[in-house]
Amino acid sequence: MKATSILALFVVSIAVIGGCDRDRMSERGFSLPAGDPVAGRDTFLYMQCHQCHMIEGEEFPEIAGLDPPYVELGGPVTRVKTYGELVTAIINPSHKLADGYPPELVSEGGESNMYVYNRYMTVQELIDLVMFLQPHYDVIVPRYDYRMYP
Ligand code: HEC
Repeated sequence: MKATSILALFVVSIAVIGGCDRDRMSERGFSLPAGDPVAGRDTFLYMQCHQCHMIEGEEFPEIAGLDPPYVELGGPVTRVKTYGELVTAIINPSHKLADGYPPELVSEGGESNMYVYNRYMTVQELIDLVMFLQPHYDVIVPRYDYRMYP
C-alpha cells in the first residue's frame, strides 16, 4: 500500500472512531417525564430563584437587603425557548449565558453568576420548574411587512 493510502485509511478510522464517541454522548433518546407547573411555582419560591429573577405577570415576595441584577425570565422571545434549553439553563447555567445582558453583569470570567443547584435539586423539582417557566415565554413573530418601494 502506498503511504498516501495508509494515511487516508488512518484518517478515515479516526473519523469513524470519533463519530462513535460523539454518538455515545448524543442527547438522542433523552426524554424527561412531564412536570407539574403549580409545584414548579412552589419550587421557584422555595429555592429562592426570585433572589435574582423576575417573571412578567408573577408576583413574588421581596427579599430584603438584596439588589442583584435581575434577569427577567419569560416574556417575548423571537423563537421558542425549548425544554432542552430551559433544563440546560438551570442545571448547566454557564453553557450558554442569557442573551441581552452585559456579560460582566451576569457572569464572572465567562461563568454564570447563577447558583448551581445540582447537588440538592431533585429531578422532580427540575421538571416542575421547567413546566412552570415554559408557558411564560411568548414567541413573537418578527414583522416583515415593511415595503422597500413606494
Ligand atoms: C444568585 C442569582 C441567581 C439565582 C438565585 C438564580 N439564578 Fe437563574 N440566572 C442568574 C443569572 C445571573 C442568569 C444569567 C446568566 C445565565 O444565563 O446563566 C440566570 C439565568 C437563568 C435562566 C436562563 C435565562 C435565559 O433567558 O436564558 C433560567 C431559565 C434561570 N436562570 C432559572 C433559574 C431558576 C429556576 C432558579 C432557581 C432554582 C434560578 N435561576 C436561580 C442568576 C440566578
